[in-house]
Amino acid sequence: MTTPLSAQAIGVDIGGSGIKGAIVNTATGEFIGEEKRIPTPELAKPEVIADIVSQIVDSFDMEPNIPVGVTFPAPIINGVCPLVANLSQDFVGMNVAELMSAHVGRPVVVLNDADAAGLAEAEFGAAHGQDGTTIVLTLGTGIGSALVRDGMLVPNTEMGHILLPNGLKAEKWAASSIRTKENLSLEQWAQRLQDVIDMVEMLFSPDTLILGGGISTRFDEFSGFLSTRADLEPARLFNTAGIAGAALVAAQEQA
Ligand code: BGC
Repeated sequence: MTTPLSAQAIGVDIGGSGIKGAIVNTATGEFIGEEKRIPTPELAKPEVIADIVSQIVDSFDMEPNIPVGVTFPAPIINGVCPLVANLSQDFVGMNVAELMSAHVGRPVVVLNDADAAGLAEAEFGAAHGQDGTTIVLTLGTGIGSALVRDGMLVPNTEMGHILLPNGLKAEKWAASSIRTKENLSLEQWAQRLQDVIDMVEMLFSPDTLILGGGISTRFDEFSGFLSTRADLEPARLFNTAGIAGAALVAAQEQA
């Protein structure tokens, strides 16, 4: 027998620039109360990151058995991180789920950040009720991806690491952080993003392509520069998708 889904869960999103958390209503994906954010110290050791996650969880002052889910900006296979692009290399080979659980003081579910965002969009957002193949690309410090087929996630796709015909990795060419770093106009950046989208469409033939990350709030300003075979949509949950997805998965695993 399964227990009902916990009505609330804590989601924490570890990003390249900030670690953010909130209590989430697992039926709607909405936050209950304020989001808490602590900047990510540059190339911080795993223990430092885990400590910040535990501070964020503690700040919510909830009963001790509320589920906790944490997103991580790298693939996570059975709790273990096989490679990492935008955080300390000390994480490579580490069981991040065990590390987080030890610091937080109870079992913590850890999953890839874009997978969490994809699950949240499938459950509460732009991909809700969509059949077929949906791909969510998160455009931030790097490029993350989630592949959802008929509502089921295929975890740990790493489309940000696809090599483009110009020899560069997709995320080194067209992440949102590159737009800022190279001072590209939205049109120039969208032209680069088109190169990534062309590869993604050629490899996976998605029916729906959803663009997420903070820049997705400006979707209307750059989507006109993009052309896709798939239906192109902005994420509905913008930057809250990672937190909502992590909380949802934590609640599902506890049920
Ligand atoms: C990582 C992905 C992650 C993405 C967004 C990439 O560099 O390899 O796992 O989803 O950045 O954070």
